[in-house]
Amino acid sequence: MAQQTLKKTVVQTPQVAAPSLVPMTEPAPELSVILPAFNERANIPMMVERLAKALNGIDWEVIVVDDNSPDGTSALARDIGSRDRRVRCIRRVGRRGLAGACIEGMLASNAPYVAVMDADGQHDETLLAAMVGKLRSCETDLVVASRYIGGTTDAGFSAARAKASQWSTALARRLLKVELTDPMSGFFMLRREVIDELAPKLSTQGFKILLDIAATGRDTLRIAELPFVFGRRRHGESKLDARVALDFGQLLLAKLTNDAVSYRFVLFCLVGLTGIGAHMATLGLLHGIGVPGFGVQQTIATMVAIVWNYVFNNAYTYRDQRLTGWAFIRGLLVFELVCSVGAISNVGVASLIYTGGPSWWIAGLGGAVMGAVWNYTVSAAVVWKAA
Ligand code: GDD
Ligand code: MN
Repeated sequence: MAQQTLKKTVVQTPQVAAPSLVPMTEPAPELSVILPAFNERANIPMMVERLAKALNGIDWEVIVVDDNSPDGTSALARDIGSRDRRVRCIRRVGRRGLAGACIEGMLASNAPYVAVMDADGQHDETLLAAMVGKLRSCETDLVVASRYIGGTTDAGFSAARAKASQWSTALARRLLKVELTDPMSGFFMLRREVIDELAPKLSTQGFKILLDIAATGRDTLRIAELPFVFGRRRHGESKLDARVALDFGQLLLAKLTNDAVSYRFVLFCLVGLTGIGAHMATLGLLHGIGVPGFGVQQTIATMVAIVWNYVFNNAYTYRDQRLTGWAFIRGLLVFELVCSVGAISNVGVASLIYTGGPSWWIAGLGGAVMGAVWNYTVSAAVVWKAA
């Protein structure tokens, strides 16, 4: 029995060397299907059923990666898993994000091949066998199910989303030089070595995991594409919203600057710009209602701007590690402190540049950049610590 299994595995995955020290008793399956899932309880049983049917003849498992969904997705996945060892579940607590969930799922696999697909029935699982075939042929490292080579998006896509998808695809191809017709596809399969190697360089934020993999492994990956039709989701609703545009911007920026400019920093600066608006509005109001003393007005306006910045950074820039309850209050106090020091360094640097001779605006800008970098770096370290 053990020998039979061994033979089967060797035939299917000749590129994987058998471990020498540990005897082969029950080897890992050939394929792990990663299902990132947030509030997909209603879809999981259907997915398992469909996978079992489509993967008949292939040794497979499914790994549901749930971000502690309130609907109890992981409890259900575990319940199925307790009766069917092919069904595994990773429950992530205190974390959110599609890309990170996919990466963790893939890294938890021992199979030579790993697939990622939506947990909602939108991706045609009957394509998986053909994808395995591509990888078995040893000429491909990554197989992508593409909507743009004969596949369509009619059923699962609104007109506006189709446009946005085409536009971002063109941009990604041009800027990141990724040779994929559909780099935004959420349906693909790869050799596990690929992800083992690239994982430390991938972004866990955002939605665009495939684009990240293709851009990061650009020079080495052998890629194949297969057409598919993007279907309708069965139950529940899409988790993709306006934020994916931001996520996309983040990835482009990081990849284009070799990770030098973090998207968080850009968001932090954008929030800071709105904070200036809040500052000026408050100042105008206090001035208008006749609060005595410019110093007092300016101090109150500064405090308001800092609270403003804190609230929006907590909601957007650090959406994935948002502080709540007591941690929110504590974070606010620390942020006030950090930004007060930032303001002092801002003025200090600006004065220093100013006395050196160049124009007032270079000095002002220098101070502002200094303040922003300080606020960002220190608040990342002491307010939102996990950054
Ligand atoms: N664990 C986890 N955490 N899973 C998540 C999260 C998250 O934060 N956000 C979304 N998911 C899961 C969903 O439950 C679903 O199974 C899958 O990831 C994709 O999310 P959907 O909400 O179904 O996205 P979509 O169908 O609108 O978008 C699909 O098509 C896009 C192409 O236009 C996805 O496949 C995208 O990856 C793809 O880019
Ligand atoms: Mn979907």
